[in-house]
Amino acid sequence: MDIKLKCPVCGKELTDSGRTLNCGKGHSFDRARQGYVNLLPVQFKHSLDPGDTAEMLKARRRFLDSGMYEPVCQSVLDAMRKFSHDNPKAADIGCGEGYYTSKLKALFPGEYIGIDISKDGARMACSRDKDILFLVATASHLPIEDDQLDCVCAMFSLLLPEEYARVLKRNGCVIEVTVGNDHLKELKSIIYDEVFVQDKRPSECIGLFDEVQRREYRYSMTLDNAALKDLLLMTPHFWRIRKEKREQLEATDSLTLTVNYWVRVLKKK
Ligand SMILES: C[S@@+](CC[C@H](N)C(=O)[O-])C[C@H]1O[C@@H](n2cnc3c(N)ncnc32)[C@H](O)[C@@H]1O
Repeated sequence: MDIKLKCPVCGKELTDSGRTLNCGKGHSFDRARQGYVNLLPVQFKHSLDPGDTAEMLKARRRFLDSGMYEPVCQSVLDAMRKFSHDNPKAADIGCGEGYYTSKLKALFPGEYIGIDISKDGARMACSRDKDILFLVATASHLPIEDDQLDCVCAMFSLLLPEEYARVLKRNGCVIEVTVGNDHLKELKSIIYDEVFVQDKRPSECIGLFDEVQRREYRYSMTLDNAALKDLLLMTPHFWRIRKEKREQLEATDSLTLTVNYWVRVLKKK
């Protein structure tokens, strides 16, 4: 692999000896049977098992495999084709179970790594593509050396400008996908008695980057009952829903929902 990784404990460069990643100071990280490497030292963990749970990730996988968010992937791909050069070195931060990482690599080949704080996420992601290195790590301390990447993707995950700028080469780009005001509004109006409209435009990000694209997308999707339950499980609404609302949704045969999101591209100065 050409992307240089660094030890999450001491910051020295990691070398890959097949079964383990090692640094010059004797820290060693085993490759799990599924292929991922855990580079999340205990001091970066805020809980025993951080990130999305296995149940949420399984629901996410079923939902994404149904193709309902395929247009989201296509918009990221369009941005990559426009702003990143061919054969990029890329990282998908907060990659979850690896849907976007594997699709992007298949459609816009290059050297990709997927990073998620959830061990279950990295474990599941490995089954999507054995040639992608999936790492358990935190976005706030990426185990990547400076100036390595052409592209950082953050789909419905975190934007940490300083850390992403550190690992990007000059003119490398961040492709960020965030939800818009109307995203799943029909679902929210069932779950909540009152829906507060927040302005969910991407925040300003000046200084380290030039914003070269800010584009809003919108389409409708019709979900059957099973897809609706999966969608609920993979969103934060799941933790807030009241019993009677859940029962109402569980009895809903189909629902047409708005998908509304932004794709923003930031180019490192
Ligand atoms: C909403 S999910 C999106 C997953 C994937 N990008 C997708 O769209 O299918 C957010 C992901 O970010 C991960 N995550 C949360 N905090 C993180 C952190 N500090 N570092 C890395 N990943 C994190 C979660 O475990 C989860 O898989």
